[in-house]
Amino acid sequence: MISKNMEKAISDQVNKELASAYLYVAMSAHLEAREYPGAAKWVRQQAKEEVGHAMKLAEHAFDRGSRVVLEAMEKPPVDFGSLEQTFKAILEHEKKVTAAIHKLYETALNEKDYAAQVLVQWFISEQVEEEKTAQEIIRQLEAAEGREHLLLMIDHRLGERGD
Ligand code: FEO
Repeated sequence: MISKNMEKAISDQVNKELASAYLYVAMSAHLEAREYPGAAKWVRQQAKEEVGHAMKLAEHAFDRGSRVVLEAMEKPPVDFGSLEQTFKAILEHEKKVTAAIHKLYETALNEKDYAAQVLVQWFISEQVEEEKTAQEIIRQLEAAEGREHLLLMIDHRLGERGD
């Protein structure tokens, strides 16, 4: 049996993961408009991953007879600035997600919910990867700063990201 606190915490995280997907689709639209189709595709792949994260949490809740409640989503910005600024915004967003995942784990510890602890451990490792990847891309973009041909090469490489 899942506690009310745990139920609410998982449900809140489902909302956060879906909001991440929504934000990343907005970023993808921005990058398409700026004519960086590779980066736009990369960010869309990221949006799909976020939906996957939301489903992983929701399915855990459903498997345990728990309820997920969806909330209204905030309207995302339309313009995220340069390619570098967009990836910096991704990194900042992922840092907030990491903090939320850590809080979720604390709830699982406080509630002595061992099944949720195992689930959330996967997300803790995933966040390390997500921050690392965004940081690596930012480093490449910083190194290429102002040189459009290098930015286009990076954009092309980002577009090679698979599902
Ligand atoms: Fe699901 Fe990018 O955190």
